[in-house]
Amino acid sequence: MRTDTGHVFKLEDYRPSDYLIPRTSLDFRLSPDATRVTAVLTVERREGVAASAPLVLDGDGPTLLGVAIDGQLLSEVDYQATPDQLTIPTPPAAQRFELRLETEVAPSSNEALMGLYRSNNVYCTQCEAEGFRRITYFLDRPDILSVYTVRIEAPHNEAPLLLSNGNPVESGTLADGRHYAVWHDPFPKPSYLFALVAGALGKVAGSFTTLSGREVELGIYVEPGKERLAGYAMDALKRSMKWDEEAFGREYDLDVFNIVAVSDFNMGAMENKGLNIFNDKYVLADEETATDADFANIEAIIAHEYFHNWTGNRITCRDWFQLCLKEGLTVYRDHEFSADQRSRAVKRIAEVRTLRAHQFPEDQGPLAHPVRPRRYREINNFYTATVYEKGSEVVRMIRTILGAELFRAGMDLYFERHDGEAATIEDFVKVFEDVSGRDLAQFALWYHQAGTPNLAVSSSYNAAAKAFTLEIEQSVPPTPSESRKRLMHIPLAFGLVGDGGKPVAWAAVDGAIVEDGVIHVRKRRHTVRFSGVSERPSVSLNRGFSAPITLSVQQKADDQIFLASHDSDSFSRWQAFNTLLTDALIAAFRQVLGGKEPAFAARLAELAGRIAGDEALEPAYRALALSLPGEADIARDIGKGIDPDAIFAAREALARTIAEANRQVFSALYDSLADKGPFTPDAASAGRRALRNILLDYLSLLPEGAALAAQHFNAATNMTDRTAALTVLAHRHAGSREAEEALAAFEARYRGDALVLDKWFQIQAGVPGRQTVEKVRALMQHPAFSIANPNRVRSLIGTFSSANQTGFHRADGQGYRFFAEIVLEVEKRNPQVAARLATAMRSWRSLEPIRQDKARQALLQIANAENLSADLRDIVERTLA
Ligand code: ARG
Ligand code: ZN
Repeated sequence: MRTDTGHVFKLEDYRPSDYLIPRTSLDFRLSPDATRVTAVLTVERREGVAASAPLVLDGDGPTLLGVAIDGQLLSEVDYQATPDQLTIPTPPAAQRFELRLETEVAPSSNEALMGLYRSNNVYCTQCEAEGFRRITYFLDRPDILSVYTVRIEAPHNEAPLLLSNGNPVESGTLADGRHYAVWHDPFPKPSYLFALVAGALGKVAGSFTTLSGREVELGIYVEPGKERLAGYAMDALKRSMKWDEEAFGREYDLDVFNIVAVSDFNMGAMENKGLNIFNDKYVLADEETATDADFANIEAIIAHEYFHNWTGNRITCRDWFQLCLKEGLTVYRDHEFSADQRSRAVKRIAEVRTLRAHQFPEDQGPLAHPVRPRRYREINNFYTATVYEKGSEVVRMIRTILGAELFRAGMDLYFERHDGEAATIEDFVKVFEDVSGRDLAQFALWYHQAGTPNLAVSSSYNAAAKAFTLEIEQSVPPTPSESRKRLMHIPLAFGLVGDGGKPVAWAAVDGAIVEDGVIHVRKRRHTVRFSGVSERPSVSLNRGFSAPITLSVQQKADDQIFLASHDSDSFSRWQAFNTLLTDALIAAFRQVLGGKEPAFAARLAELAGRIAGDEALEPAYRALALSLPGEADIARDIGKGIDPDAIFAAREALARTIAEANRQVFSALYDSLADKGPFTPDAASAGRRALRNILLDYLSLLPEGAALAAQHFNAATNMTDRTAALTVLAHRHAGSREAEEALAAFEARYRGDALVLDKWFQIQAGVPGRQTVEKVRALMQHPAFSIANPNRVRSLIGTFSSANQTGFHRADGQGYRFFAEIVLEVEKRNPQVAARLATAMRSWRSLEPIRQDKARQALLQIANAENLSADLRDIVERTLA
């Protein structure tokens, strides 16, 4: 484990390396406890660098066995090696020389899952961000691009399959049952994209013919026996390859493309050149084991990693401050892919919900950072919703400002200009300036300035003057180390909506640049005056969520209700209803705090009933509209003095009110949506299941609700319906006979399938109420649980701490105490997973005072532990600051 050095990396300290490594040749003799690695590096002094410049390579604990330069073994006085550095003080005077390093590593005891490790007896690697240095000493930074040749040797029976990046060039058998394979990747790449896999795996084969007629062999490797669960992933891969050709003109560039699924993985997946490595959760699926959400995630992540081949691999990042260059852009690309494959309207709403649930609290709390940070202590803590999701929104705004054609021209120029390079955000923004002739300097603040901007908007209509006026004021709240903010360029898509939802025309507008339905907010205040407006419109703002901002709009509930039924922009229409729900929930929260029974306007429940039954709307859209803002969403919108029990009570009361008012409609609709034909994972079928399952959620609150859910559970023919019913039973009817029976049945049925049991852990970790902390502790003793496996830890501990508001935030602090203990326990093995878990505490200052105090104590308990990893110390100290 890398302990904390306290070093802060700063963007302005970037300078190119004195040395380059144009060629890298690696030879692995695999063995679980003592793998030998021979690295032969062609080292080149950069033009203009003094011959006396020392060569300093990065390391993270590999055992160094020998160093040779140009065939001469160095004696120990010729170099200095520490676990994290290898220094050659006086390298040869020649501009180019060959450095040979022998190291030894122990994959089987690598529980941090960075570098070379073992998962289910399969050797695999994870090198992003700084894992390569755990294998050998290297210039382990993304601007060092090298052409790799990799030879892997292992006993055939232990590892019949030997994979690395690029194309296979040679393989053969050796004495003593051993064999080897050689791989060559012609594309220069940074070390973080290196990968190796070796073991016994089953294969699903496929092929793809590129636009220019090249045949690519596709392979997805999974645990033997699970091959039939990789069919959906293979299909998603082919669709991704085709889509990138059509949407961005990007073709695949090697003869083979392989994906390997492993069961121990810190993140979702990794885009290693030609050899993507996946968390098996994002590969394996069939109707029996995967939910519709799992299918959608698999499709999106397969696409995401594949798209990195151009946005990340062919063009990589100059340094880790530029992470969003590849991640934000690639998320944008996978979002567009999913929108094209599924329903664009529904996809957009789901994206915004995710952004608000994960990125907004980050941006509004102690861990806020710009999309392109300027400082970090541990880069692994910057694989965040801000870099990924807000980064994607920034790319989307560029497209909104430029329009589809210029955006595509800019992307084409980006690929043309920077292919084969390690680029920066400045390079990226520049291509769009160059193709459009626009100045994007103010816009670029979206990359450099943290915090969620707010627009306060009020409107007025003067019938006599036929003038409609919008008063818009922008503000950006302060964030850690950025107290003063600059004014941003916010593209605010809008519509003036008249009778029956028709657009209201205007003759002229002044006060801001308005083009193609977008108001360009660039100053602190704009008074935007529309003249020649013949009726009083309702104004629909931030259509399509054109900017990742918050809005404070003084708008009458009547207008919101009107927009919730008539806005022609499907996102804004969903938003209008969601705003009504949120406002009602916040009012109810205050009533609960004041000791009153929450009450709701009847028209809210009526509207819910109308939306549910509106056959003109897609079922998936209706399902999203009917799912109430989550407890954490409500907390975020309230902002401070949070009492999760009061939020829970308010939300339950609204759900019950809606259910009672719509009993008949919901129940008839529920019956009519029952699955008829055989299961298909497509978006339309998934949408019908989603609608039916949200109706079940409401109906379960009425008398006989538990019986209905039990019936739903028993009749389920797919995992989506089964987990929906199990969640309803466990969360709304906790302790009932029906709930206990269903939980036991689920466990019995899927005993032995760890990925499916994760759902069972998750559902139980999410049960609201004070008793859950003890249940979670007990479940840690379940035979299927393992504290060393990230998926298990996230399902049980991650769900409890980040998705169970009433259970985790118990007023007596028991949830926090338990959490601190487990985070420290996880950290001993896997600092990265522990640090990620710890971010669950980031909104602690918005809690009411008693909980706040208990939360601080738990954070201090972690902070005061001995030998904290850089990962966890960084998160905890920033959270407490
Ligand atoms: N680049 C991967 C992706 O596509 C994420 C890998 C991050 N891994 C890490 N250890 N920080 O999202
Ligand atoms: Zn990525």
